[in-house]
Amino acid sequence: MKAWQVHELGAPAEVLRWDEVPDPRPGPGEVLVRIEAVALNFPDVLLCAGLYQERPPLPFTPGLEIAGTVVEAGEGAGFAEGDRVLGGPPLPRGGLAELAVLPAGGAWRVPDDMPAADAAALLITYQTAYVGLHRRAGLRPGETLLVHAGAGGVGSAAIQVGLASGAHVIATAGGPDKVQVCRDLGAHEALDYRAEPDVAKRVRELTGGRGADVIWDPVGGDVFDASRKCVAFEGRLVVVGFAGGRIAEVPAGHVLVKNYSVVGLHWGLYRTAKPAVVAEAHEALLRMYAEGAIRPLVSERLPLSAAPDALTRLATRRTVGKVVLLPAGASA
Ligand SMILES: NC(=O)c1ccc[n+]([C@@H]2O[C@H](COP(=O)([O-])OP(=O)(O)OC[C@H]3O[C@@H](n4cnc5c(N)ncnc54)[C@H](OP(=O)(O)O)[C@@H]3O)[C@@H](O)[C@H]2O)c1
Repeated sequence: MKAWQVHELGAPAEVLRWDEVPDPRPGPGEVLVRIEAVALNFPDVLLCAGLYQERPPLPFTPGLEIAGTVVEAGEGAGFAEGDRVLGGPPLPRGGLAELAVLPAGGAWRVPDDMPAADAAALLITYQTAYVGLHRRAGLRPGETLLVHAGAGGVGSAAIQVGLASGAHVIATAGGPDKVQVCRDLGAHEALDYRAEPDVAKRVRELTGGRGADVIWDPVGGDVFDASRKCVAFEGRLVVVGFAGGRIAEVPAGHVLVKNYSVVGLHWGLYRTAKPAVVAEAHEALLRMYAEGAIRPLVSERLPLSAAPDALTRLATRRTVGKVVLLPAGASA
């Protein structure tokens, strides 16, 4: 089969190579999946550069969330040929390829009426939003949720999951087009945090001085620093990622004086540490999808061959929502 492989670390466009590699085979308890859609994530960029928390041995194939059809089920896998599944192929053999092997415990059934592109986007992005907002931050109906980078992958998912959970959602994004994306997703208010001189002040004004109960921060750096100035009494500031490049410091004195929590989120760990949480989130997300409460913002469907260019644009803030790649012959 063909697969994108990283042989040395660096920017995606410089290090991804379109290689012919042996077809993978499923072992006991595994399934071989013909990939119909692979959704891109910022961590794919970090993986290529060797900056992600997981550093697979070279050469490796990035691609963290896929959807497709089982073409072979290993002994005891509990799946059959033809089953539609989504999952995250364990590295070093990720999903920027034509075939992938999933452990049966990490393969989730996909309803017949869900397009593969939506299914692929439903794993990391929406699981992160659901587990982060519900389990880690304890978001309650009626609370104010501030979502930074709301037009991005985990940002757009957090807006939707927040709205579906009854929150009042304020979003931020860089530039008027992305602000409009947040509004189109249903955010009650949306701010351009590049143009707004003092985002924290605006958030306090919009909340009658209280601040936001839950703050979703996939950017870090200055965005995190601003968030500390507009988090409500007993608020929860969720550290999701550092797309901006700087990891901010948490001054413990400020956390005490203002009576808020800084909540870390590493969704991937739940897959091994607490798989029941992932299973429960998957069921909840399928329910929300069936009710129409969430719909992945798949902004681009491109051939798998477009991976280097698509990842370059994702790394440089030139994508919105989810970019999904389709191997030749797949329609999603
Ligand atoms: N904690 C977890 O378990 C978990 C799971 C998945 C992803 N993440 C993390 O969440 C973050 C977002 O991932 P994603 O897949 O949603 O990425 P994405 O779709 O590219 O969204 C990231 C957004 O961050 C904003 N941003 C601000 N400064 C940036 C910069 N210097 N370079 C690039 N983007 C910048 C951009 O929005 P604006 O242009 O509007 O500012 C961009 O759209 C990443 O740090 C990722 O590692 C964490």
